[in-house]
Amino acid sequence: MNIGIGKAHGKVILVGEHSVVYGKSAIALPLLSKETTVEIFISKNVNSFSSEYYTGELTSLPINLKGIETLLNLLCEKFSVRISDLSMKISSTIPANRGMGSSAAVSLAIIRAFYNLYNQSLSDREARQLVMVAESINHQNASGIDLETVISQLPIFFNKSEGSSSIQVKIKGYIVIADTGELGNTHAAVGTFKQNLEASSSMLVKLEQLGSLADISKIAIQDGSLDFLASAMNKAHNILKTFGVSSDKLDLFVSLALLNGAIGAKLTGSGQGGCMIALCKTKTIAESVEKALNEAGACETILLDMEEYYEPNR
Ligand code: MEV
Repeated sequence: MNIGIGKAHGKVILVGEHSVVYGKSAIALPLLSKETTVEIFISKNVNSFSSEYYTGELTSLPINLKGIETLLNLLCEKFSVRISDLSMKISSTIPANRGMGSSAAVSLAIIRAFYNLYNQSLSDREARQLVMVAESINHQNASGIDLETVISQLPIFFNKSEGSSSIQVKIKGYIVIADTGELGNTHAAVGTFKQNLEASSSMLVKLEQLGSLADISKIAIQDGSLDFLASAMNKAHNILKTFGVSSDKLDLFVSLALLNGAIGAKLTGSGQGGCMIALCKTKTIAESVEKALNEAGACETILLDMEEYYEPNR
């Protein structure tokens, strides 16, 4: 039996979440150590779907998998397959609803599995179009940054009008990602941000500031200015708080990270749960930040060495 396999990695947003929905710039890193794998095969009436969140008939997917269902219908039509003849298994080390790009990675891995099964090459353009079908159902008004980061092997600078370009990383430093264990909901958080944006004209200034912080961060990353990046991250967190997209646990993690030697810390992704990121000058400091966050109840911490993002031939 032929099996199609597709994989895709996760993502973490450094600066610019939410404001990116309104056309401002943002920076994100591919999270190469976290991956979703999708396996598919076709057999008459096999009709099965297996994942951590739902296992059962593929033709009876729950409503919260509407994005995947729509994508599968499109792919089945494209490859002339009856959806009830499809079997799909999703396994993932990217936790869902934590701002790590799980939904975009699942969609991309599904698309890659189909193209792998039918031995067809997949252009980035086609991948983008198809992932966005699911993403715009999963999230209110998705900017496309998650999709661009799960496609890329390098850090990206993104805005809606110019799309994505890779950033040459020159900073030395470590990022600790800490998972609060609280489930975020991108759709709801984007709604809260919008409500607060519309509540007063001063919020428009804050929106502009979030965009400028991403522009500054890009220069800092390219110039090796760790302190500028850290300061942009701290400012971004405080602004995101005023938009109501942080949480008590995210704020606690930010304070603890800074208390334990991090120089910048903020929520990442849509917020109201999910993950926090902290920037540290040395590995020793990063490890003590990880320890403090684990003691405070982080359900997982991940350590990223920024040198992992240096371009190989630089
Ligand atoms: C979600 O990872 C990032 C948000 O900015 C939404 C989006 O850009 O689609 C909150």
